Amino acid sequence: MEYSGAMEKPRAVLFDAYGTLFDVYSVGLLAEQLFPGQGARLAVVWRDKQIEYTRLVTTSNHGAHYRPFWAITQSALAYAIKLIEPAARQDWAAYEQRAAQLMNQYRHLSAFPENRAVLQALRDRGIATGVLSNGEPEMLGIAVRSAGLDGLLDHVISVDPIRLYKTHPDAYALGEQATGLPRSQIVFVSSNAWDALGATWFGYPTLWVNRQNLPFEELGTQPTRTGHNLRDVLAFFD
Ligand code: LAC
Repeated sequence: MEYSGAMEKPRAVLFDAYGTLFDVYSVGLLAEQLFPGQGARLAVVWRDKQIEYTRLVTTSNHGAHYRPFWAITQSALAYAIKLIEPAARQDWAAYEQRAAQLMNQYRHLSAFPENRAVLQALRDRGIATGVLSNGEPEMLGIAVRSAGLDGLLDHVISVDPIRLYKTHPDAYALGEQATGLPRSQIVFVSSNAWDALGATWFGYPTLWVNRQNLPFEELGTQPTRTGHNLRDVLAFFD
């Protein structure tokens, strides 16, 4: 979708982490080895349940059930395994080692190939760069380092200190606080349609990176722009 209308010149770009910079479905190969014939399904159920749990703990009981993203991810994996392998419901011990292997893989997800060049191109234009993620700081730090992105990011922002997951507005507001810029000058980039929508509702100019050729959310709001990989963010600065 083409952006139209007056827009302030953006001065920063914040990226979602999981799915946007790091390929959450790169665990599918190992999942397939551990659960033959069911790897792809396991990866999708795992991801969907992980996001569902973030919403559950953010919207229930004023956050009393908050757990960091790593723990949420572990719980979601246990659910996904028990869904596709009913025997795991009775005998979890027999599945624990496979779960641990998948969690270890999640710690070192593959990064998308264009990340480094895009971050460098933004920095060359004097644009501040950062991550704004549900992941807790330790988890993000490891992912950023193992992808070789440290040094290319001015901000690595985690929602963990406020214990509220996206799409809570206080989570998106962390981007303004970290950069010292108003939301109108910060482009938010996500491959997750729900996240691009939440950020658009919050007031960021947005890029939805539609890596999987999906329809956008049907809730009456469109992202500012839609693209197919991270490079499309550079169109904001042409
Ligand atoms: C994140 C997840 C939601 O990095 O993708 O925030």
